[in-house]
Amino acid sequence: MKNNIILIGFMGSGKTSVGIGLSYQLKRTMIDTDKWIEQKQKRTVSEIFAQSGEEAFRRMETDCLKELIRTADQQIISVGGGLPMKEENHALLKELGIVFYLSATPEALYKRLKSDTTRPLLQVENPEERIRTLLKQRAPVYEACADVVLDVSDRTFDEILEQIGKELEENEAFSD
Ligand code: S3P
Repeated sequence: MKNNIILIGFMGSGKTSVGIGLSYQLKRTMIDTDKWIEQKQKRTVSEIFAQSGEEAFRRMETDCLKELIRTADQQIISVGGGLPMKEENHALLKELGIVFYLSATPEALYKRLKSDTTRPLLQVENPEERIRTLLKQRAPVYEACADVVLDVSDRTFDEILEQIGKELEENEAFSD
């Protein structure tokens, strides 16, 4: 297993902002799988979904993980909300490092996502309903994939960082 910190969770659960915070705190660089794919493809996630379809995007996510296994160590890696849903990706995530699931209620997620236009899966008539349905399918998979589950709905940003810090201290492989 490599020494990366992986953040998984639903869209809007705060993976990117927590990742940036951790990256400052631990002085590790951060990689976001969506950004990685966008840079490689030279188009946005929305464009990839519209032009090539979701399946193609999902293949790009797996390719990204395989590449990160070859190249990333001591980094913070925030992954797209749908990435853990592919069975093949579970072993790859485990191989990459310690996996934190940022778990949030559908209400908290909807509050953060209601005006979002960048997530193709939520550009539907009733995004709140969509969030509930998707989260119901995904939450058990996120939990199965995670080494640590953190409930982030009622926690401040600083509390989340502190909690992750404690978990890392307890994990021998990550205390330097
Ligand atoms: C998706 C989540 C997005 C992005 C794409 C699909 C999903 O990433 O990968 O829009 O299926 O949940 P974030 O979780 O970073 O928003």
